[in-house]
Amino acid sequence: MKLISLAVRRPGIVWVSALMSCLLILRLLTPRSSLLLTLLDFPDQLNEGISGVRSTGIDFESLLRMDRDTFPFCRRGLVVMILVTSAPWHAARRAAIRQTWANKHPDRSDHPWQVLFLIGQRQEDGVSEDIQREQRAFGDVLVGNYADSYRNLTLKVMHGLRWAAEHCQPRFVLKTDDDCFVNTDYLPRFLAEFGGVETGLYAGSLFAAGKRQVIRDPVSKWYVSREDFREDEYPPYASGVGYVLSADVVLRILKAAETVPPVPMEDAYVGILAKEAGVPVMLSGRFTKNNVNWRVCNYRYLLVIHHLGVPELKVAQENMIKARTACSRTKEIRSWK
Ligand SMILES: *[C@@H]1O[C@H](CO)[C@@H](O)[C@H](O)[C@H]1NC(C)=O
Repeated sequence: MKLISLAVRRPGIVWVSALMSCLLILRLLTPRSSLLLTLLDFPDQLNEGISGVRSTGIDFESLLRMDRDTFPFCRRGLVVMILVTSAPWHAARRAAIRQTWANKHPDRSDHPWQVLFLIGQRQEDGVSEDIQREQRAFGDVLVGNYADSYRNLTLKVMHGLRWAAEHCQPRFVLKTDDDCFVNTDYLPRFLAEFGGVETGLYAGSLFAAGKRQVIRDPVSKWYVSREDFREDEYPPYASGVGYVLSADVVLRILKAAETVPPVPMEDAYVGILAKEAGVPVMLSGRFTKNNVNWRVCNYRYLLVIHHLGVPELKVAQENMIKARTACSRTKEIRSWK
């Protein structure tokens, strides 16, 4: 009896294993880049990658190699994830940001948003005790597997974008720096209600054509070789003080980053990737330098203000709070311009 039933089952087993082998071969033949898009619903499989594929772009597998215990908190259903490039030794700036614009107003949670500070490791001793303590206390620090240095800023931003896309899947990402003020009263509401752009969005403050030359002086901290970038001028790109990307653009940029060699200026690199992915950059006056003339009602328009010290962050915060009630008769400007 036993022998017969085994023989009957065997053809089934043969068919199943044939099907499994086909699936395996198909998966091995799929290029890494499209895996990112197809596997986004299965984040755990993302990190497997396929070894032996030579790539001149960003090595995401290596960047993402971190202990899961150190992962920050991540909220689902976010309108916007705010990624703030910081450095291990900028604890005071992070503290000031947590007390000002990153401090959530309880009545304003209808458009969820979240702040993540992007930090690398100390060259010798990995993730420092201080950073681990900060991470445990606030859950808003994302440490990547790269050495924190100026020339590694590009790795920092790519790691942050990739981690956010994989773990949080926000509708938009704002990338900014730790010397900036983000109008968190207005930004999530603007993106969700007024902005009117859900896909293909890459917006910020742009550099003029004459100010995008590639620096070929090897001693400069912005030096880029001709092998890494052939042209003499970068394509139009948004300044790293603040730019907004829609979720689809984040994915298209990450895909391009797998093959395009990085340059040390993260914002220029995002411009190169956007061009490669066919995403045009949009100029917006809502990203600007700090100016003593910004008044309360400007906080119903501005999204990111840069170059602020800690005392100025507090002034900006007070103005943002006043703008909640003042200026309500000011006409809402709905365009990105
Ligand atoms: C960038 O990070 C990588 C990985 O940690 C490291 O090997 C490299 O030395 C860093 N580069 C600089 C210029 O710090």
